[in-house]
Amino acid sequence: MTRGRLVVGNWKMNPATIKDALALARTVGATPHAAVDIGVAPPAIALAAVTDALRSTDVAVFAQDVHWEASGAYTGQLSVSMLRGLAAGAIVGHSEVRRDQGDDDARIARKLARALGAGLQAILCVGETEAEFAQGRTASVLKMQIARDISEVSDLSPERFIVAYEPIWAIGTGRPASGAHASAAAQTIRAALDASGASADGIRVLYGGSVSAASVSEFAAADGIDGALVGGASLKADEFAAIIRAFAP
Ligand code: 13P
Repeated sequence: MTRGRLVVGNWKMNPATIKDALALARTVGATPHAAVDIGVAPPAIALAAVTDALRSTDVAVFAQDVHWEASGAYTGQLSVSMLRGLAAGAIVGHSEVRRDQGDDDARIARKLARALGAGLQAILCVGETEAEFAQGRTASVLKMQIARDISEVSDLSPERFIVAYEPIWAIGTGRPASGAHASAAAQTIRAALDASGASADGIRVLYGGSVSAASVSEFAAADGIDGALVGGASLKADEFAAIIRAFAP
């Protein structure tokens, strides 16, 4: 099964202003890129401006999170209906959102079901903590996260469902996982998807955690890894472009 490559820049709470986000989006949109799907996930407040700026390009725009309810009294949150037309999809279950919003796997499962049910793409993030890694528990943690996070979804279409393996200890630390560790994680993730009845072969698995122009070749060559979810390095258009190029077939 040939899976297309995908590189998504998660801008997190950056850049400083909507104007800066627009400038970055325009540069990404103007950079030629062959045979790699590209996405950016700007902060919610910049979604409309960035989507507008990228409308005539093939760069997909993602929200960084989405609420599990359709509407209601949820101050500060975004619903799937608000994202429709503004974003191709959403990141769901990022470890920073799990940490800061208190999301557990039950909540992530509802967010994922809500996003996919609304026809959005969803990039589900999973990954172990530093302590779990040190204890050799990566595989068991991933199996449990996948089983729980997809428990509310019946249709995991490979066109819309993507998994990002993001070991928490590698995020923002400048200490990426090895390609071999990422490959093993991707294999575990696909086995867990298969065990839950999904057809994992076509589902893309990205690696995220300190991906940079210097570290990307490790992941571009890693078996079972179909792209990257890039944080800090996606804020520098040149470096993001170099990461994208590394994944070109
Ligand atoms: P860094 O690339 O900054 O480590 O962030 C990774 C990440 O969390 C992407 O979602």
